[in-house]
Amino acid sequence: WGPNGHAIVADIAQAHLTPSTLTAVRTLLATEGYASLDQVASWPDTIGHISKSKGGAPETLAWHYVDIDAANPAYDQPRDCPDQICVAEKLPEQERILADPAATATKRLTALKWVVHLIGDMHQPLHAVERDHDKGGNTIHVTYFGDNLNGHMNLHSLWDEGILDHATGLKVGPHYTIDFSSAQKEAMKLNASVTPGEIAFWTADITAADNRNAAIDWVDESHSLARTVAYGTLPRAQKAELGEDYTTLAWPVIQLRLEQAGVRLAAVLNASFGNK
Ligand code: ADE
Ligand code: ZN
Ligand code: ZN
Repeated sequence: WGPNGHAIVADIAQAHLTPSTLTAVRTLLATEGYASLDQVASWPDTIGHISKSKGGAPETLAWHYVDIDAANPAYDQPRDCPDQICVAEKLPEQERILADPAATATKRLTALKWVVHLIGDMHQPLHAVERDHDKGGNTIHVTYFGDNLNGHMNLHSLWDEGILDHATGLKVGPHYTIDFSSAQKEAMKLNASVTPGEIAFWTADITAADNRNAAIDWVDESHSLARTVAYGTLPRAQKAELGEDYTTLAWPVIQLRLEQAGVRLAAVLNASFGNK
């Protein structure tokens, strides 16, 4: 997702934290002067796009996705993530650090930033797929309502932010700058449609111990949605012209995935902080 999507996931999650988890999360955030989860939600994208010599971590860009070929039905670690550097394996690794009482506060805050971000990204359908080696749609040029952002729009960025921004009116400025209060309002709109039954169903596989299996379930959901909706009826071509019809298909899925990511992030945080 772009910065608005990540902020929305963080805001939905924060609304579902138990009081003791919220206190623990705020204490950890405060060690670097942050007050809420949305403020750290896009940090992994920021450091990923800064060179190593300037203090960034471009080698972590592969942590944000897993390329499962659209011809395959589901995630298979030896085939899809042989070096264990992909979102399906990095999320559980960071969850373990976050829940480790022996880890330093610095390490746990870094892990918290990753968990907030990666639960978001793994719910974006195109973060769990590739078709014809298109890097989750990054190599597919698109126009959206006739606009191609001077050639900068592609199928992946359309799902990360183009459709969300179109449907909500949210905007992104330079260097990931967003209006946090507008994102918060959109998050609460989405959250208002989530039912207790959905919360129970969506979080049924989350435990206080290890959530690798849950992570794989969420990646498989994304992969399936990518096959059926994001690629769906799109012909295998290097470009597409998309607009109202595509939005009608994609926007309900984007809303669902942001809601699920937020609710599940809260459940993971409640499970790892709740009992301490
Ligand atoms: N880079 C390569 N594959 C990708 C994917 N599926 N999502 C995001 N970035 C990628
Ligand atoms: Zn993306
Ligand atoms: Zn990311």
